[in-house]
Amino acid sequence: MKVVNTIQELREMLDVLRSEGKKIGLVPTMGALHEGHASLVERSVAENDVTVVSVFLNPTQFNDPKDLEKYPRTLEADCALLESKGTSIVFAPSVEEVYPEPDTRVFSYPPIDTVMEGAFRPGHFNGVCQIVSKLFDMVQPHCAYFGEKDFQQIAVIRAMVKDMKFDLEIIPCPVIREESGLAMSSRNTLLTDDERTIAAHISRVLFESVELSSSHTVAETHRFVEDSLNVIEGLKVQYFSIVDGISLQDVADWNDSDFIVGCITVFCGATPIRLIDHVKYKG
Ligand code: PAF
Repeated sequence: MKVVNTIQELREMLDVLRSEGKKIGLVPTMGALHEGHASLVERSVAENDVTVVSVFLNPTQFNDPKDLEKYPRTLEADCALLESKGTSIVFAPSVEEVYPEPDTRVFSYPPIDTVMEGAFRPGHFNGVCQIVSKLFDMVQPHCAYFGEKDFQQIAVIRAMVKDMKFDLEIIPCPVIREESGLAMSSRNTLLTDDERTIAAHISRVLFESVELSSSHTVAETHRFVEDSLNVIEGLKVQYFSIVDGISLQDVADWNDSDFIVGCITVFCGATPIRLIDHVKYKG
């Protein structure tokens, strides 16, 4: 496994591999890797000749500077995990390397990027598109792997790929959960043991709501999720939306779409830590 820090070195290495006809998989990450990331790397290693993992804490996608400040940074442990999973190249550039000048490009894919995370984290998806488009340009992968935990992010990236005509395949990979059901996230390491226990209620309530949905309306199911979580001390729902899985627009009735997903963001604990999750109702 090679660890490279400059775009030039990365491009030179990949040019050689591409000229040899190697299939290239890209797993973009912000580091603080966990089993969820490991599953993306394993999939890429199985499906490609070369797997590039970027480890870059992208400042332009953080609308809250405090969130960026407290984001865990664990490059050494990340590299050990990546090596054990068969990664070929780790690309770990500095902020100056990626953004020698401020990136003034604006990516806008309404209504997909204006709802949910887009509404509560202004500029977030613009920053995601800035870095992901740069990575696609630098690596020119055949396939790029993203975790379905960030359900809306995949929809926005798909819109960007279509808009910018990137010639690659986006591969969504299933959410990996802790034993308690809590969706794996780099942010989980910021939770205390008590908060981690409380946070497990998020997936429990989401899964219960799937059972309930067969005999209740969308509005009732929605109310069940919000009310069940908001009564738990230490949890506060920021938003819960039951949406069409493609357009990400709210549905009012279970017959409105063949693909229906509930997307949630919950604040957990005193700090608080912002946790996201989703569940499929249909499709
Ligand atoms: O999902 C993430 O970790 C980030 O948003 C990504 C795709 C690596 C871009 O910084």
